[in-house]
Amino acid sequence: MTAAPPPGATTRAERAAMTRTPADQREHERAQVAAHYQNDPDIFRVVLGRQLAYSVGLFASPHDDLEAAQDRKLAYVRRQLDLRPGERVLDVGCGWGSVLCELASATEATVHGLTLSSRQRDRALERAHALGAGDRVRIDVAHVEELDLPGESVDAIVFSGSIVHMHAREAVHALVARALKPGGRVLISDCYFPRQVRGDRDSRATAHIFETALGYCRLVPLAEELGWMDAVGLDVRRVEDVTEHYVRTVDCWVDNIRRHRAFIEARAPGFARLLQTYMMVGRMSFARRTALEYMITAVKGRPREATAGWPVPGVAP
Ligand SMILES: C[S@@+](CC[C@H](N)C(=O)[O-])C[C@H]1O[C@@H](n2cnc3c(N)ncnc32)[C@H](O)[C@@H]1O
Repeated sequence: MTAAPPPGATTRAERAAMTRTPADQREHERAQVAAHYQNDPDIFRVVLGRQLAYSVGLFASPHDDLEAAQDRKLAYVRRQLDLRPGERVLDVGCGWGSVLCELASATEATVHGLTLSSRQRDRALERAHALGAGDRVRIDVAHVEELDLPGESVDAIVFSGSIVHMHAREAVHALVARALKPGGRVLISDCYFPRQVRGDRDSRATAHIFETALGYCRLVPLAEELGWMDAVGLDVRRVEDVTEHYVRTVDCWVDNIRRHRAFIEARAPGFARLLQTYMMVGRMSFARRTALEYMITAVKGRPREATAGWPVPGVAP
């Protein structure tokens, strides 16, 4: 049984989700979250950079640029997932194909992507084909809870910047644990709240980000996510605090919005302002550590030999 959250721990979005049936909440996420990602992919291309990665980059130094940081993150994800030829990986929330294209082009695995947005699927497929990896890629426009995968059929599952949009986390972890083969790997990269309540989670600014800008977000304490994973037999191998990297990533996105404001405005009047506002408010939360960014790697059961190398404490990703 989960203890009641301390006062001030939940957001309005989360409390509203708790009043809906699971089916209604799923439909709410499908409509509200997809609305953000159905915006013109060319806008996201100028804001997020060449890889169209809408998630944390890993900076080697404060002077590193966004493209290098995203390339480094994608290589890190690939190493952690340790895919062998013919293995199957599920990319839940594949966006415009950042992780999916990396895995399809730099390994010989087959990649199954899921997204709520048809425009994201189309762009991701185009990119995979351009890389010559289209024949090993499939992308469905579907909510993860609708997935009906055979048990023990997948070698790795990745959630890069996507699990935050899912309210029914325990159900999602149960699905992951069922679908993974023994020795299968899972990687989650996303935003969390510290358990200690810092900052006003009921502010208008929070509601703006979690509801107006992004449709639906649920940040939980890291320990809660890890507990749910533990409960379904996923053994946590590695947790990296990448909060500072996320602050730097968002700084780069905001710089890109400023630089390309006219281009964005011409395609979607008002969207540059919406993006910039939500990103700047979000950035402040991560800089003050009222929100945190983590990368989590886990394995189902016994890790096979040399899965992503031995995790060495203190070694940066
Ligand atoms: C912030 S983007 C991350 C995209 C990509 N993984 C990356 O790192 O560049 C979040 C993605 O999650 C997807 N998503 C959110 N909720 C989902 C759900 N319940 N089922 C499937 N996809 C979902 C969105 O459609 C979007 O593609």
